[in-house]
Amino acid sequence: MSNGITVELEAALPFIRDEELTILEPQVKQIHHQLHAKSGVGSDFLGWVDLPLNYNQEELAVLKNAAAQVKEEAEVLVVAGIGGSYLGARAALEMLSPYFPPGVDGPGAYPQVIFAGHHLSGTYLQELLAYLAEKEFCLNVISKSGSTTETAVAFRFLRKLAEEKYGKEGAKSRIFVTTDPHSGALRRLAEEAGYQTFNIPADVGGRYSVLTPVGLFPLAVAGLDVDQILAGAVKAYQDSAVAEPAKNSAYQYALLRYLFHQKGKKVELMVTYEPSLYYFTEWWKQLFGESEGKAGKGLFPAAVNFTTDLHSLGQYIQDGQKILFETVLQVVRSKAALVLPAEENDLDGLNYLAGRQIDEINAQALQGTILAHQDGGVPVMVIKIPELSAYYFGYLVYFFEKACAMSGYLLGVNPFDQPGVEEYKQNLFALLGMAGYEERRGRILARLAKAEQP
Ligand code: PA5
Repeated sequence: MSNGITVELEAALPFIRDEELTILEPQVKQIHHQLHAKSGVGSDFLGWVDLPLNYNQEELAVLKNAAAQVKEEAEVLVVAGIGGSYLGARAALEMLSPYFPPGVDGPGAYPQVIFAGHHLSGTYLQELLAYLAEKEFCLNVISKSGSTTETAVAFRFLRKLAEEKYGKEGAKSRIFVTTDPHSGALRRLAEEAGYQTFNIPADVGGRYSVLTPVGLFPLAVAGLDVDQILAGAVKAYQDSAVAEPAKNSAYQYALLRYLFHQKGKKVELMVTYEPSLYYFTEWWKQLFGESEGKAGKGLFPAAVNFTTDLHSLGQYIQDGQKILFETVLQVVRSKAALVLPAEENDLDGLNYLAGRQIDEINAQALQGTILAHQDGGVPVMVIKIPELSAYYFGYLVYFFEKACAMSGYLLGVNPFDQPGVEEYKQNLFALLGMAGYEERRGRILARLAKAEQP
């Protein structure tokens, strides 16, 4: 496959019988047609399927202009959002930025992107506000529903700071709102205040929205090539537009993880060997966890970074309960060319490695670990990514979205809703005394009082 990724199944297939795969083929094909015809469960939220193909070029131009304006005016862009309105942009930034970025003051430098509204830590917000007081900043608040507590709370503080610093008019040109095209409190607030807005298509749910202005605007501000991100997604669309699982890596991955689920595996462990992929695995966890964890079903999506975690969790993976399988994200071409030098006295005994690149040693660790874990009864799939670039970020996002939809449908759940998330929200509103939650509040308080009784 050229310009795509490859999925290697050698260390996973021995755990599966051939007929288990072939028997599911007709179902995979049927789901594929349902997905492309947008006729399955949750079909109101299938806008992401052909989004990269039909990307609105006018909107893209507006988005790039706004990003250029932020670059002119600000040292910092604060992005307030949570879940699907946060993780995708963070994943791309961490994956594609240098580990030790140069300061933001240099000529041509892009603004620093700082995230907020993705938790309720008062300490974080207080320290962020103090940090921003000394900086030139712009804000991008992102919420599809427009009413998410974490995001709304942070935005109220950030907006106030912007208005104090730049005045109401000045703040107006520094605040960008990404939300539903028509509904929600944030849409109303933005229209009332006259902020520039970007639309999250009504038929694209939060965790499937990174290839909309949700991800693309902050990434354009940070200087990432959003055209390349979309080009990668288009290629992934093309590669996954065939119904036959044998010709479609996204479906092969979905099929195998489904079979492991049926065989009693409880956890899929996403394994990386590059620390910059940490937030990509966070994005992936949300995508699969929220899409599949329903009706008592679903694999628990977890992630580790090797070789670091081989020194903490390696023992469990090798010898613990056989509830896991692994999916390794292997980056083929590294950005580095660090070669281990030879030393005359070889006191540390490393001369046998002299002349070899660090990433070559990393690749050997990957190989050795796959063999060891396979021997320990852990199936391993390997997803090979040619390099870490904007193009492959876009490719991977679309690849996993497609695989997740297939996987959720195979499991028999709606991969596009998240009813379980509502429970905590309702309790929070009740505990905080929101109007309309009086009855629930009464029940909760009675329960808490009972628990406190000696
Ligand atoms: O995938 C989802 O729909 C959720 O994770 C949302 O992205 C998250 O809850 C944030 O919601 P909102 O964008 O409405 O603030």
